[in-house]
Amino acid sequence: MESTTAAHYGEAIFAPRNNEAERIRALAAATDPGAQACLSRIPVPRGGRFLEVGPGLGTMVPWFLTTYHPSEMVLLDRDVTLLEPLASPNVTVLTADINDPDITIGEFDLIFVKSVLMHLPDREAITARLASWLRPGGWLVVIDGCDLSAAGPESPLRSAMTAQWLVLGRTIGATSEWAMSFPEPLRRAGLTDLGVAAEMAVAEAGAPYTRFLQLTFESLRPKMLETRAVTADELDFAIEQLAGPRPPALGTLGVVTTWGRKAL
Ligand SMILES: C[S@@+](CC[C@H](N)C(=O)[O-])C[C@H]1O[C@@H](n2cnc3c(N)ncnc32)[C@H](O)[C@@H]1O
Repeated sequence: MESTTAAHYGEAIFAPRNNEAERIRALAAATDPGAQACLSRIPVPRGGRFLEVGPGLGTMVPWFLTTYHPSEMVLLDRDVTLLEPLASPNVTVLTADINDPDITIGEFDLIFVKSVLMHLPDREAITARLASWLRPGGWLVVIDGCDLSAAGPESPLRSAMTAQWLVLGRTIGATSEWAMSFPEPLRRAGLTDLGVAAEMAVAEAGAPYTRFLQLTFESLRPKMLETRAVTADELDFAIEQLAGPRPPALGTLGVVTTWGRKAL
């Protein structure tokens, strides 16, 4: 049986000192364009008050500012080291843990959270809290990944994916299944006008997602080997393949976006 611990993202795994900034940059390059395409389908008001939870390097922020001209954009992350340069009269950088039920930051017209909630065991309660921070008519947009590799052929990459999810589940309580339940968490949080969209990230040569996988495996290598779901030889082969000119092109990650609105 899989057990989860109280360890946090950024501590037990994915600590900033490792390759984390480069890893997150690759993830952002792989998922920001799809997020922007999904957001463009929603009638988000220009000039509203926006919140991004767990913005990482803040790569979406310039796009939010030029597309919507928010009156204020709040960036909330437990580690804001790389976000501080983005602070400006209408960009507020806030150090906080979204698990904290006592955060008081007012109401928003848009709350955006990408590649964060799947890592947090209390994701249902956090979703309900985020929904409660919406102004009437405000939108909550949640994006997370789900694992598609289990349906692919046996391969070192597939074994590595299995080991990766075991590590993520055991150390911080992350799950690749939450995104497959979209949009139900938003319905449970009382939101309306629900929508969902998905795309597949494929490990192609030179793609940011391929680099992200390689960096994730390098970062988690010792813990992945402890799971015994992948051998050292298989893991090294998978990493080499991802870094080389002919990665296996396995569609391993589904990127699922869901959105919903607080009734007017
Ligand atoms: C995988 S990164 C995603 C970054 C960005 N959203 C993106 O898609 O590129 C996860 C982000 O969530 C932040 N994070 C993780 N747990 C958090 C928590 N409990 N409270 C606030 N932020 C958290 C991390 O510091 C990191 O910036």
